[in-house]
Amino acid sequence: MKLLMVGSGGREHALIRKLNESGQIDKIYCAPGNGGISFDAENVNIAATDIEGMVAFAKQNSVDLVFVAPDDPLALGMVDALQKEGIRAFGPDAAAARIEASKVFSKNLMKKYNIPTADYNVFDDMDKAISFIKDNNTYPIVIKADGLALGKGVIIAADFDEAKAAVKSIMEDKIFGKSGNNIVIEEFITGPEVSVLSFCDGKTVVPMVSSMDHKRIFDGNKGPNTGGMGTVSPNPFYTDEIAKQCMEEIFIPTVKAMESEGCPFKGCLYFGLMLTKNGPKVIEYNSRFGDPETQVVLPRLKTDLVDIVNAVIDGTLDKLDIQWDDNACACVVLASGGYPGSYNKGEVISGLDENGQLCGVTVYHAGTAIKDGNVVTAGGRVLGVTASAKTLDEALDTAYDRINKISFNGMQYRKDIGRVEWKQ
Ligand code: AMP
Ligand code: GLY
Repeated sequence: MKLLMVGSGGREHALIRKLNESGQIDKIYCAPGNGGISFDAENVNIAATDIEGMVAFAKQNSVDLVFVAPDDPLALGMVDALQKEGIRAFGPDAAAARIEASKVFSKNLMKKYNIPTADYNVFDDMDKAISFIKDNNTYPIVIKADGLALGKGVIIAADFDEAKAAVKSIMEDKIFGKSGNNIVIEEFITGPEVSVLSFCDGKTVVPMVSSMDHKRIFDGNKGPNTGGMGTVSPNPFYTDEIAKQCMEEIFIPTVKAMESEGCPFKGCLYFGLMLTKNGPKVIEYNSRFGDPETQVVLPRLKTDLVDIVNAVIDGTLDKLDIQWDDNACACVVLASGGYPGSYNKGEVISGLDENGQLCGVTVYHAGTAIKDGNVVTAGGRVLGVTASAKTLDEALDTAYDRINKISFNGMQYRKDIGRVEWKQ
């Protein structure tokens, strides 16, 4: 079997390393891939959003399955285009990918089907949005661009002036382009955050083990948001009782709602949850595997991922018994100096072996390239150092111990992954 992975981050590297454990795959291509991925797959120089290029490559190389990992090609309809050509593809079609690509769509879906989420209003007119904020007069208040915005489309405003500036920047200055034609203004809610990824075949939903992301750049959850600076699995706040409640009130109703709306979801559906005093609520849906959640969830998967992928595409998930191990897993992201702002590229990374790995941990490459035989930095998030152990503390100790071996100019990382105090 020949597989083509679409994407270039740590998530794609984790997916590829897990797929390589399956005895069913002979060859993995990754488009466009990165330096570290080249140790585990053959990189192909096609942009992740190049639908025509991807379809043509899959045809020319008799690819049996295309795995579309990032949000933008899904929203652009890459899975639809592949299927039209008779090529098997993992991921939702464009209609189902709206669950992430349009916050107006997902909020209206939750409202219609009574799925718990923060209260909200939708605006397509800036003046009406600003007068709503003035009348509402409750802060903080959350302002979200409707469309995809590289994970930066959410602004939490502390007062009227900040909220007004946020609305103007999205709707008038168009800092997120067309994604800001509509906005959602949302009630601010609090509680520990939980990421639950799930496999969905349009009818059946099978949650994976839980995880927790750390989105802010600095220790103590301070500073600007990033793509994610580290993850742990399981999420310490996600009890069996809460999991059961989420299954009944959120996961099953969401999958049923998508089916009722005529856009059944097939792929990985990511539930971004907040455990509030009034119960779990959906903060956001993603139509794909999370990054860096995938890096701590997949190492715990015992079932062959190829069997699961086939069951998702064929609609036979209900016949599969998916098994996880009991280990805890921790991933600490090493980022370039200056990230999430501007940063240098091309810094030589020292401490990795000839396969871009390090003994005792798995190093998922997010933003690396190979230059003159060296692994060098090529992105904001560079590496995800990931350890598994019986307890979360042990996994974290191992990851942090091994990180001492790795260095590059400007390297920064959080020292408190998995150890942030939560006060309700
Ligand atoms: P998102 O890009 O939708 O994941 O949002 C980014 C982050 O903003 C989330 O992880 C939350 O920490 C925060 N956030 C989003 N919506 C709300 C809300 N209604 N209340 C409080 N925090 C929120
Ligand atoms: N880690 C959050 C995301 O993948 O969107």
